Amino acid sequence: MSRIAYVNGRYLPMRDAKVHVEDRGYQFADGVYEVCEVRGGQLIDERRHVARLKRSLDELRIRMPMSFAALGIVLREVLARNRIGYGIVYLQITRGVARRDHAFPMPEVAPSLVVTARALSRTRNEALAAKGIAVASVPDNRWARVDIKTIGLLPNVLARQAAIEQGARDAWFVDKQGAVTEGASTNAWIVTQAGTVVTRPAADHAILCGITRMVLFDAIKARGLALEERAFTLEEAYAAREAFVTAASQIVLPVVAIDGRPIGDGKPGPIATALRREFHRYAEAG
Ligand code: PDD
Repeated sequence: MSRIAYVNGRYLPMRDAKVHVEDRGYQFADGVYEVCEVRGGQLIDERRHVARLKRSLDELRIRMPMSFAALGIVLREVLARNRIGYGIVYLQITRGVARRDHAFPMPEVAPSLVVTARALSRTRNEALAAKGIAVASVPDNRWARVDIKTIGLLPNVLARQAAIEQGARDAWFVDKQGAVTEGASTNAWIVTQAGTVVTRPAADHAILCGITRMVLFDAIKARGLALEERAFTLEEAYAAREAFVTAASQIVLPVVAIDGRPIGDGKPGPIATALRREFHRYAEAG
C-alpha cells in the first residue's frame, strides 16, 4: 500500500505529493510544523498541539490555511488513509509560494499545508526504552527563538548527526553558561541524587515548550515527586541519578549515558520508567 499525503487540498500517493520549488518553506524554511503521537488510531493531545501550532503561526505572522476544525478532519483522514494505529502524524504550514524575495509576499499568498503520517513499531520503541539511549552534548548554536516550532532545523540536524557519529542517539544542546537547554528533537530532564525531577523552564525562549513535557508535569505531580523547573548544568547531569528525554514521538525515553559517562547505574531509571508507563493517563486521546 502506498503512503498517502495531504498536499494543499488533495490526498496523493507519496510519489505524486509535491510542492512548488518556490514554496517559501523550501527556499527559506519559512514555516512551522507539529508532530503528534497516534495511539490506538487516536490523536494524542491534539488540543495542545493545535494551540502551540497557532502560537507558532502567530509569532511568524503566517495565516492558518483552514479552520482548526477542518484541520482536525484532514489529520484524521490522513491517519485513516494510511491505516495508522500506532505512529505519528506530521503537519507543516509554510507562508506559501511566491517569487523568491526575503520580505513577506505582497499581496499575500495562500499558505501551504502538508500532512503526512507514519506507522511506528511499538515493539521496537518499547525495546529502545527498555535499553535506554546514549546522548552526546553539543554547543547550542541555534537562534534565539527556538520556542517557535519552525521547520528551520539545520543546527538540530547537525547536532543529531554529530551525536550519531559519536555512537550516541540524541544530542543535548548546552548553552554558553554550561547549562543544558534541550535535545535536538526532545526536551531534556534529570533526576537529582535527592530524587527531584528537574527540567529547564520554557519562559526564556531557550527551549521548545514540549507538549509531552507539559503533560508529564501532571504525571510527576500525581506521583508526588518533587519537580523543579530550572536550568541544570552538564556537570549536574553527569552526576544525576537518572536522565531522560521527552517528545511526542517517543514519550519518555531513559538516557543511560551522557558523553560516554554512565548515568546512575547505567540502566534506565525507575522514575523515568514509571513516568513512561503512566504518561497516557494524563494525555488526551481523541
Ligand atoms: N520534536 N524540543 C525540540 C527541539 C523538539 O523538536 C521537540 C519535538 C521537543 C518535544 O516537544 P513535544 O513533546 O511537543 O513533541 C522538544 C518533534 C517530535 C520532532 O521534531 O520530530
